[in-house]
Amino acid sequence: MIRSINDTNVREYISLVKEINFGATKYAHVITFGCQQNERDSETILGLLTEMGYTPTDNADIADIIIINTCAIREHAEVKALSLLGRFKAQKKRNPDLIVGVVGCMAAEPHRADMLKKDFHYVTFTLEPNMLHRIPELVARKLTDGKRSFIFGQDEGDIYEDSPAVRRERHRAWVSIMYGCNNFCSYCIVPYVRGRERSRCSEDIIFECQGLVNSGVKEITLLGQNVNSYNADLTFPELLSRIAEIDGDFIIRFMTSHPKDTSSALIEVMKRYTPKIAPFFHLPLQSGSNRILKEMNRTYTRERYLDIACELKENIPGIALSTDVIIGFPTESDADFADTVDVLRRVEFDNVYAFLYSPREGTRAAKMDGAVERSVKDARMAELLGLQDKLSYDKNRPYVDTIQRVLTDAYEIKNGRRICSGRTLTGKLVYFESDAEIGEFINVKITKACPYHLLGEAEKRG
Ligand code: 5AD
Ligand code: SF4
Repeated sequence: MIRSINDTNVREYISLVKEINFGATKYAHVITFGCQQNERDSETILGLLTEMGYTPTDNADIADIIIINTCAIREHAEVKALSLLGRFKAQKKRNPDLIVGVVGCMAAEPHRADMLKKDFHYVTFTLEPNMLHRIPELVARKLTDGKRSFIFGQDEGDIYEDSPAVRRERHRAWVSIMYGCNNFCSYCIVPYVRGRERSRCSEDIIFECQGLVNSGVKEITLLGQNVNSYNADLTFPELLSRIAEIDGDFIIRFMTSHPKDTSSALIEVMKRYTPKIAPFFHLPLQSGSNRILKEMNRTYTRERYLDIACELKENIPGIALSTDVIIGFPTESDADFADTVDVLRRVEFDNVYAFLYSPREGTRAAKMDGAVERSVKDARMAELLGLQDKLSYDKNRPYVDTIQRVLTDAYEIKNGRRICSGRTLTGKLVYFESDAEIGEFINVKITKACPYHLLGEAEKRG
């Protein structure tokens, strides 16, 4: 169900905390692990905290409330969050009033939720993703009666609109269009921790995008675990066209897509609205072996994947493609891995994000036999990265001597020179000397290609 936080008691809790905090300067520190969805969620967390009277700070040492927004996609992400959490034990000893909240995907895993409650006595509350609107209630509870809270298994699949947000950047914005995932890829924890797919209403999304464009945002990235299966009153291609019809000089990106839902209708819309819809597509492959794809429950074959890649390249000349690959899924043989390498060679991705398989408790793959030895995984990773360095470089070289439209994201003063960084429409990182403002589109002549970035000279403006 779509709900508005204004129709709930969230505002009452916000007012209560604000009243308690009144007159004192209280600081809030938010730490984010994981994907862009989490980055976007942290903007909501910071929005709620700000409304409760907290001042955001980058310095955890002076914080009165610390919230860790966790990721569970691989064990490494959890270990990092837990070790960081450990650092706050001493701070809590020094300041017993410190509030420490653990939210996000790790807090939605039964064994982790249990552990946080029993073994981490300095944790004030835990909360699953999709439930962030309850943060004010949990803070209020702690401030009024000192109670710790552990919210688990209460996600009813509602979407909450009208949450406040403190957006990290002024020129780029993430817009969530759907939450959760129904695909149950056998290695993946996401459907368990983020629940089933639910899509926001298109009017709410378009209204939000229009507001962002009005406020000067130049790049909107539509977010969802699987944006192509957006399914509300419009389909994803229809939603994309509606957003592309918004007047203004801005670009649209989206992620992540699943090959099974990447339709010709979507490719048509991209073609029609290029370059307003950026000529870039992130399409996770995961494996190039049909046998492994089946074990992964990915529901497409390598042949189908190659067809989609071909269709994208034919219809959108110059499109950049990137992908995710998992190395060392249970039973992955040398021949299976060779199939993955073969797809990488055929498609010639601009960028590949490769991950070592990490068993996730509760998923089907975690119960499979045939674990691949760590040394074998490492050797495959090294081979893949070596190949991809070369392929990425080959993709970047033809940019030399071309003029690219670049959105300026940041700048640094180096040896007295102002060096800007930004991205081409195809998502390539470019460094160039310029007095361009952050958020300004600038034409850059590319002078040098490296495997993972380009160097260029800004064209004179006006
Ligand atoms: N182990 C390793 N990588 C994983 N991913 C998802 N689950 C796992 C796992 N258990 C990768 C996939 C996905 C990306 C976001 O993370 O490649 O596309
Ligand atoms: Fe995980 Fe697969 Fe859903 Fe992506 S599509 S979030 S990999 S289950």
